[in-house]
Amino acid sequence: MISPVYVIERKRDGHPLTEDEINYLVAGYAQGDIPDYQMSAWAMAVFLKGMNSQEIAALTQAMIASGDRLKPVGDQPRVDKHSTGGLGDKVSLILAPLLACADVHVPMISGRGLGITGGTLDKLEAIPGYRTNLDEAAIEHQLREIGCVITGASDRIVPADKKLYALRDVTATVPSIALITASILSKKMAESLTGLILDVKFGSGAFMQSEAEARTLAASLVSTGAKLGLPTSALLTDMTQPLGRMVGNANEVHESCDTLKGGGPADVRELTIELCARLLVDVKKSYNLDEARKSLIQLLDSGHAYERFEQMVLAQGGRLDAVPNLATMNEQFAASSGYLQSMDGQRIGHSVIALGGGRKFVGQAIDPVVGLEMLVRVGDKVERGQPVVRIFSSKSSDREAAVAWLDDAFCIGEMPPTTVPLFQPL
Ligand code: URA
Repeated sequence: MISPVYVIERKRDGHPLTEDEINYLVAGYAQGDIPDYQMSAWAMAVFLKGMNSQEIAALTQAMIASGDRLKPVGDQPRVDKHSTGGLGDKVSLILAPLLACADVHVPMISGRGLGITGGTLDKLEAIPGYRTNLDEAAIEHQLREIGCVITGASDRIVPADKKLYALRDVTATVPSIALITASILSKKMAESLTGLILDVKFGSGAFMQSEAEARTLAASLVSTGAKLGLPTSALLTDMTQPLGRMVGNANEVHESCDTLKGGGPADVRELTIELCARLLVDVKKSYNLDEARKSLIQLLDSGHAYERFEQMVLAQGGRLDAVPNLATMNEQFAASSGYLQSMDGQRIGHSVIALGGGRKFVGQAIDPVVGLEMLVRVGDKVERGQPVVRIFSSKSSDREAAVAWLDDAFCIGEMPPTTVPLFQPL
């Protein structure tokens, strides 16, 4: 006879759980039959003892089964990308309409900022009127008409994860490879995808600080996806410095629009093209990566991707021409001359939160017009007194707090540093 205590004990003592035991616990928790205190004890046991690949796959399936799955519409491949989050990561805003132009469907269910990393929904809500609460019928309709959607999860998409994630957040059980894998994959698999790519970031501005940790998480995500029949691939990507120049919300929308029109920073463009190209090859829309990259470049440079973005925004009620201007700008200057060795992503992230561009507490309203513009990149030669970052602030007290975070965020030294590649395959 299974009971919550029995399942907790088995995991505490390092035994693998059966599919039945995992289903029992997840379904019971989602339905409110198993209380938070027992689920917390179980989550801590998983954090400490880990799970094998069969258990992770069973946990992912049990989480999906706690809610609804989106219904596929049409014969197009259905693809999506998940990023583990970073500073200036606006790739989703560009990737979804770009892939829709390549005749695949992108039913992207996104999230809000977590810790120091920004969230796609917060960025899109810098567009006045943009709705992030589409229901399943609206998602299906928009996929048929436009081919891409970026919206938030309804309460019916993986409700077990909503509850469990909130519990993990306050019980020090977030950084478990098994729990992260099931959490991410269950939400993506509930979109009924035929291809998924993971952008697993590492560095000071990322959830995973080291390349080794990022590799372990990426490998777990890819193998669990494959085990559950979803072709999944991953890139390990650089988060030792923000992606692109802009970190914030409205400013990231502007930078995404520039990229969608064929311009934008080289790293944003290159990473987005690479993620899309790999997906197109995985779902057999392109024969090889070179062919895929060429067609994606054409879709950006011709303005087609931007047109598709305009259509998506309009369909979701947004007014792109009404994106507000940025707040008052001040510059911060290099304290010495030399080569920029590194940036402290944590400090940069906290400075954006101090400005009101991220959250200090659950549910805090975001100020869309604040943020940063990075004027230098790791490896650049800088002169003392040269501006290194622009700060957009709505209040002088917030600006002072942001400046305090940024003061030690730029490390300048005498020798050119070794830099990290923008992306590497798993
Ligand atoms: N992001 C998620 O969606 N889930 C996790 O567990 C961690 C990061």
